[in-house]
This record gives sequence, structure tokens and C-alpha cells, in this order.
Amino acid sequence: MTYRTLINQYQNRHHLLLEEIKTVIYYVNGLNYTSLILQYDDEVLNLPRIRYYLRKLIQGIPVSYAIRQFENKGTIYYLNRHVLIPRPETLELINIIQKEQRLQDKIIVDVGTGSGIIGIELAKETKTKVYLLDISSAALSVTKRNAKRILTITNYQIMKSDLLDALVKANCQVDLIVSNPPYISKEEILDKSVFDYEPHQALFAEPPLYFYQEILKQSLMVLKPNGSLYFEINPLFAETLKDMAQKYYPQAEITLMRDLYHKVRFLKLINVK
Ligand SMILES: C[S@@+](CC[C@H](N)C(=O)[O-])C[C@H]1O[C@@H](n2cnc3c(N)ncnc32)[C@H](O)[C@@H]1O
Repeated sequence: MTYRTLINQYQNRHHLLLEEIKTVIYYVNGLNYTSLILQYDDEVLNLPRIRYYLRKLIQGIPVSYAIRQFENKGTIYYLNRHVLIPRPETLELINIIQKEQRLQDKIIVDVGTGSGIIGIELAKETKTKVYLLDISSAALSVTKRNAKRILTITNYQIMKSDLLDALVKANCQVDLIVSNPPYISKEEILDKSVFDYEPHQALFAEPPLYFYQEILKQSLMVLKPNGSLYFEINPLFAETLKDMAQKYYPQAEITLMRDLYHKVRFLKLINVK
């Protein structure tokens, strides 16, 4: 069987997405976009293994959990079902911060780090010190595995912490706080593949702004003067959150930002002093 026939079969008969079928093929056979095109009419290598992963997709398992990895610009993150699969808007937030902030020699904290994607990407090519915090021990084993492989031992510290608690207790001050906390209300209807497979502790918040309020409250003890805070947010509550942030930081510059789909997705706060 050729790659072309295999892809057609799983697209047409099993209604799998082309990109997901290709992700499995790349993963199993170490191919990329170009090398697959060049081999489109060649015999498929490792067909039983490819079928094994494609069967998982047919069962509804998200591709990143099926192959236990996620790639961002060439960096591979290990994943399992204890951590959220990074979303495009989170990668956008990372890009925004990289463009706006001089990260060299800064101290950053990623609150609710999960796979570690935000903190690790921000610290990866700089001398930045990053604290990677999460309340879930199972999630932190994933963070540890990724940080150990991608960062140098000197520029990260992983801590089990209820939001910023550990840093408050240790009297730590940081230049940048970033968080994509749980923000989905129990009433929101989610895709079955999200609801059934992703960790609920990473998704849901009740009330929906609970985690933001707590982080803002604790951040008053942690964020340095002129430091910055970035949140990924639920567009439904953007204005309410902006008002809330302004109450905690009356003098701060607070900006709401849109994602590539024009949804209000991010909040930036500069702790002007
Ligand atoms: C939406 S996920 C974000 C994961 C990752 N930062 C990302 O953007 O892909 C939220 C994370 O917050 C963690 N979390 C939930 N409650 C928390 C708490 N009270 N303190 C610290 N982390 C918490 C969850 O375990 C989960 O890893």
C-alpha cells in the first residue's frame, strides 16, 4: 500500500483529518512535510505501527495523546493525559511575550505550567530564570521531563504550588508572571475529545475568574515594580477581568489583546511604579 492510498483510506472511510494522519506518519517514520510528499507513491514503511496509532484516532483520542508528543517549531514536548495539549493561542501568547519583552537575565514564573510549554519556551534560549509551578504532581512529572531535556539545569526550578503560594512563602520577586490558568465555566459546551480526554483540573474554573483573582491577589507580593503580567483569557470575561485587574493595580497599564482570529484572548499588565 502507498502513502497516498493509506491517507485516502483513513480520510474517506474513517473521516480522520489529513493533518492528524500525517502527524502519525511523520512520527512513526521520522518524515516531514517534504519527505512525505516525495514518497507519496512509495510503499508505506511500518504499516502495522501506523495503523495502531490511527486506530487510536478513530477511537477519538487526540493525536498528541496518541503519540505522546507535541512539536513547537522543532522542539518536541512529551505529553500525557495529565497535562493539557498546548493550544495555538498559547503559542501566540509566547510569541507576543518574546516580541515585547527583553527576556535576558529576567526572572519569570509560569503559573499552572502543565507541560511547561510557556515557561520553557520563554527560557529556552536566554539566561532567564524560570519558575514552573503547578498544583498537580502528575502534571509536574511531565514538566520535569520536558525541562530536563530542553533547559539547562541552572535556569529552572519546578515547584508544586497552589498558584503563586510557593513564591509568596519564599519571599521571591519576579520580573514577569505568565499564566494560562483553567478558565472554562462548567456551563460551556466542549468538544467530546476535550471533555473526555483532557484533565478537568486544567480546564474548569468556578467561578470562571477564580484563578485570575487569586493570581492577581498573590502577585501583589511577587511582581517587581515595573514588572509585567500576561494572562491567556476567556474572551467571554475579558472586560470583567480587566476591571478586576485594575482594582488590584490602580496605577498599572492594562491592555487586552486579540488573537489571530480577532478574539480578545490575552491581558497584559505593566506594574507601573
Ligand atoms: C489551562 S492548563 C495550562 C497548561 C499550560 N500552561 C498550557 O498553557 O498549555 C492549567 C494548568 O493549571 C494547573 N492548575 C490548576 N489549578 C491550579 C492551582 N490551584 N495552582 C497551580 N496550578 C493549578 C493545572 O494542573 C493545569 O496544568
